[in-house]
Amino acid sequence: VEAFGRLLPQLSGSAPVLDQAALAAIVSAPAVSVLVARSGGTISGTLTLAIFPIPTGLRAWIEDVVVDDAARGQGVGAALTREALRIAKAAGARTVDLTSRPSRVAAGRLYERLGFQARDTRMYRYALDGPASS
Ligand SMILES: CC(C)(COP(=O)(O)OP(=O)(O)OC[C@H]1O[C@@H](n2cnc3c(N)ncnc32)[C@H](O)[C@@H]1OP(=O)(O)O)[C@@H](O)C(=O)NCCC(=O)NCCS
Repeated sequence: VEAFGRLLPQLSGSAPVLDQAALAAIVSAPAVSVLVARSGGTISGTLTLAIFPIPTGLRAWIEDVVVDDAARGQGVGAALTREALRIAKAAGARTVDLTSRPSRVAAGRLYERLGFQARDTRMYRYALDGPASS
């Protein structure tokens, strides 16, 4: 709970504060693996992997990757991502997808260095919690 309170604001200004019950619900979801990296005794980064079956195969998504500002540039993000790829491969997933804003330069470099390839696709989001549109 302490680590997510420290790390999530470094990922998104609008990230909700997660209490123990919220985190427990996430880590106990069958499709979800929440990875944490420890540097010394402290959690220095996290990544969440979702693996789920759909008609075109078993797919995996990486979400919510963040490394503490004080621990960046030491390979923590790479270690988390490699472990997620290992888990997805072991589970039999066909692909591992993620999205990353172009402004996240370090993240883009990291993913491309590890072998992710940019796809020519449109990303859409329908905000169910936003204002209703007609
Ligand atoms: C993207 C992020 C997870 C990378 O974590 P990390 O532990 O620094 O990752 P790594 O150390 O494995 O690699 C980071 C890259 O930045 C470089 N880097 C070096 N010093 C750095 C520093 N002080 N800060 C940030 N990046 C640095 C690393 O050298 C590496 O790039 P390169 O090896 O290709 O040159 C981290 O920067 C982060 O949490 N950013 C904010 C949230 C975010 O953008 N999340 C990704 C959402 S898609």
